[in-house]
Amino acid sequence: MLLDKNNLPLVSMEFMNEVHFEDIAIINELYELIIQYEENVNINNEEKVNTKYMQWYNHTVKHFEREEIQMIEKGFPPYHMHKAEHENALNLMNQIFKKWEETKDIKILKQYLTEDLPKWLINHIQTMDTVTAMFLKTGLSPCSAH
Ligand SMILES: [Fe+2]
Ligand SMILES: [Fe+2]
Repeated sequence: MLLDKNNLPLVSMEFMNEVHFEDIAIINELYELIIQYEENVNINNEEKVNTKYMQWYNHTVKHFEREEIQMIEKGFPPYHMHKAEHENALNLMNQIFKKWEETKDIKILKQYLTEDLPKWLINHIQTMDTVTAMFLKTGLSPCSAH
């Protein structure tokens, strides 16, 4: 297991926590498939990695969209800042996958998943998602404090 759901920061909206738990479950499954591929390089294991990565990407698109729809509906002032982080994350997911497809170097996926992604995810949840969830729940935003 790569990420422990008990170490995931919680936000004050349950629908967001649930999606984050689903997210790390898929990330853990992808991690196992990457290890499996490393131990046994063959087309079958490669396809399993690719299918899981696509599932993760599609889940992430929905994860982000759901937060963005809520922010628009409730008029969250720094909506664009939060959306920009989502867009950067999706672009990086695409770039990493392209690099992996071009090189077939599994270390590219492994390094991204074990180093860059967990840091990004935890930081994003602790900042953007935490502030957004608080606003959705209470109507309080750091940008409307003065
Ligand atoms: Fe989120
Ligand atoms: Fe977010």
